[in-house]
Amino acid sequence: MKNKISILSEKKQQIALGGGEARVKAQHARGKLTARERIEKLLDHGSFVELSAFCTHRSGDFGLGNQQHPGDAVVTGCGTIDGRKVFVYAQDFTVLGGSISEVVGQKVRQVMEMAIDSGAPLVAVNDSGGARIQEGVASLCGVGDILLLNALASGAIPQISIIVGPSAGGAVYGPALTDFVFMVRGMGQMYITGPDVVKAVTGEEVTHEALGGADTHAKKSGVAHFTTNTEVECFEQVRRLLSFLPSSFDKEVPRLPSKKGAETHHDDALNSIVPDDPRKAYDMKKVITTVVDNGDFMEVQAAFAPNMIVGFGRLDGQSVGFIAQQPNYLAGVIDINAAVKAARFVRFCDAFNIPLVSFVDVPGFLPGVDQEHGGIIRHGAKLIYAYAEATVPKITVITRKAYGGAYIVMSSRHLRGDINLAWPCAEIAVMGAEGAVAVIHRKRIAEAVDQKAERDLCVAEYRDKFDNPYQAAAMGYVDDVIIPAETRAHLIKSLRVLAGKKARNPAKKHGNIPL
Ligand code: COA
Repeated sequence: MKNKISILSEKKQQIALGGGEARVKAQHARGKLTARERIEKLLDHGSFVELSAFCTHRSGDFGLGNQQHPGDAVVTGCGTIDGRKVFVYAQDFTVLGGSISEVVGQKVRQVMEMAIDSGAPLVAVNDSGGARIQEGVASLCGVGDILLLNALASGAIPQISIIVGPSAGGAVYGPALTDFVFMVRGMGQMYITGPDVVKAVTGEEVTHEALGGADTHAKKSGVAHFTTNTEVECFEQVRRLLSFLPSSFDKEVPRLPSKKGAETHHDDALNSIVPDDPRKAYDMKKVITTVVDNGDFMEVQAAFAPNMIVGFGRLDGQSVGFIAQQPNYLAGVIDINAAVKAARFVRFCDAFNIPLVSFVDVPGFLPGVDQEHGGIIRHGAKLIYAYAEATVPKITVITRKAYGGAYIVMSSRHLRGDINLAWPCAEIAVMGAEGAVAVIHRKRIAEAVDQKAERDLCVAEYRDKFDNPYQAAAMGYVDDVIIPAETRAHLIKSLRVLAGKKARNPAKKHGNIPL
């Protein structure tokens, strides 16, 4: 027995070394942690339970027979984050470049199925050269298994991807199918084909980082939701994000105590945040950080379409998804990227029963040939669809402009907004005054002796009628006009009113969101 135990401990030591000491050294020399070190730093200390650590690949082709590493190129298992169960897998670059074999697929499938069955989030740490080339279709089966389960788990459990190395080829669709993608600058790269293939096919020369690095995906493609400078910072942010999320669609998010007052809270700064001049901007993030518990707002996709803000905060301990225009960027107009960004966020929150709070200051959809030809109609429709089908509590605060179709889309009563509030400076109309009088008073202005004076008069008449929230309130489309300083208190009371809400959509297999 003694001998058998010492054989076992030798084997375990070998497992712990992944691809061997030299490869571990090379991984460290690149400034990267190993798969096991990553898991250790991500999870609560000592909570990790590893699964299928003895598995080895089954292929002997192209010299693979002499490269058997127990565990193959992935470490899988379960642990806790802030005491809550989480399933995790981390690709091990020290074993054949973290490539995905049939057996890697089998191991990942095991933890993904367990995560779905037990209703716990899945966190995937990606550092891999993609499908293992030597295995042919067997490795494609491994990748396919993961993609299938990513799709099936969507909406059932939160799925988070961490990109701390290459993520290439068809395998990159694994992270793309998950809810949130974290990338570490200078370390994580995602692309369908790398720079060499790009050069061969299109003649374009591009570096790995410019093609698929963290900043590229955070700012340009919108693939990355969060970026950090180091792995450790990344793991901290993943832990923070999970604190806002339920473990699965049918569980509640744990409430966290708030240091800020609830129903009596008052913040005078909000009474003067909207400038008197309607053409002047202000920072909507200040509004959000003022109302949320402890000023703690976790923005999602901060660098992509900054004209739309989305992210998580808490109100009196309850996790809430915030969607808001940013008047400081493009006047908060809704363009293609903003619509897609917000639509996906709304659908995530709805899938996981996280109430929505929308702050509205929107002049409209962005006009332009690029936007029209790029499909603003199709993409804008996604946001309407997302808000309309969402059955979670939906609370809206119109802080200033709410014009036209953009008013409708932003969680208006017409799309089943539950409690719609407005600040006294709200303007709810089909369009802004100047544009409106140019259409409806064209003749009157043209025929006037003093055209400027006549236009000013028309604008003043229009403003008098629509540059306020009272017409909408009189019609029941705005429930209350509130003092901005009391916004937090109103939001918390509204959440209480809507607690336990159970709305239903018509029976169907699934809807057909305009993709
Ligand atoms: N299948 C099998 N082995 C792979 C692999 C794959 N998909 N990707 C990487 N590896 C192996 C490499 O052969 C190398 O092995 P070696 O050290 O024994 O020679 C090891 O992993 C490390 O890879 P290396 O190329 O030295 O690392 P790098 O950091 O310079 O480059 C990549 C990383 C991912 C950019 C590069 O390996 C690559 O382009 N891989 C192929 C990507 C791909 O096209 N995948 C298939 C489509 S899904």
